[in-house]
Amino acid sequence: MPDRFTAKTALVTGGARGIGAATAERLAAEGARVLLVDLLPEVAETAAALGQPSLAVDLAAADAPARVLAALRAADMLPLDILVNNAGIGGSKPLADSDDALLYRLIDVNLRAVISLTRDLVPHLRQPGGRIVNLSSIFGLTGYPGTVGYAVAKAGIAQFTRQQAGELGPRGITVNAIAPGVVVTPMTETRLKDPVYQRLQVAPIPLERVSQPHEQAAVIAFLASDDAGYVSGAVIPVDGGYTAARHSRAEPLPAKED
Ligand SMILES: NC(=O)c1ccc[n+]([C@@H]2O[C@H](COP(=O)([O-])OP(=O)(O)OC[C@H]3O[C@@H](n4cnc5c(N)ncnc54)[C@H](O)[C@@H]3O)[C@@H](O)[C@H]2O)c1
Repeated sequence: MPDRFTAKTALVTGGARGIGAATAERLAAEGARVLLVDLLPEVAETAAALGQPSLAVDLAAADAPARVLAALRAADMLPLDILVNNAGIGGSKPLADSDDALLYRLIDVNLRAVISLTRDLVPHLRQPGGRIVNLSSIFGLTGYPGTVGYAVAKAGIAQFTRQQAGELGPRGITVNAIAPGVVVTPMTETRLKDPVYQRLQVAPIPLERVSQPHEQAAVIAFLASDDAGYVSGAVIPVDGGYTAARHSRAEPLPAKED
């Protein structure tokens, strides 16, 4: 295991489980002090197992950024080196079935709360040298049916990433995102048992398998490291080739005779 984050501080939102927990584990394993933040009280156990501090808070609440900042200050973790905006929720429906409450919730948690937290933490990020890594999704990059609220929020995250790379570059802060494909986490565990989901979302993956959280965490850790010092504004699909070359198990298209 490399040792890229000794003496660095990191904040991972949605750190209780899934990709966030794997990211906190990876950053901590490489020497970082990591504050794990999550809505779920279980975040305390995930953090304790890593020997790290935690905070249980709903990041969509108006006072969340102030509470996160207070926790970072209390743990003597400022200036912050690495901000990983990972917390998110699923539950999209097609547009016709998406009422305003559902749309508002998906966009509020997955996009607005990320923008608010970032805005309030940027003054406390290390300058130069700070790193922001956001979680978009393949559904933020492609137009898949039935995902409207989630998809527009995750597309917003991709654009927020590019836009902030422009704004924060002069301060020496890089801003990047990953766009995961299908990852085995509590968010997807029910769907992964559904044969229709397997046919539509798993079978077309060129690498012919789903991803484990540690594979996403490895790319997040790269973007948070000095190795990625000249990478900013990138949205990297970590999807087994899905967005580049989605295929079906059907035969290749027949050659066209003109
Ligand atoms: N699993 C996948 O296939 C997949 C694919 C693409 C993108 N993503 C994205 O990756 C990120 C992590 O997803 P995951 O699969 O690990 O999901 P997960 O549901 O396992 O973990 C998400 C965590 O975020 C926390 N969270 C949600 N809303 C919150 C809030 N308001 N305040 C604080 N914490 C909150 C949850 O409690 C949970 O612990 C999300 O942004 C998700 O959209 C996941």
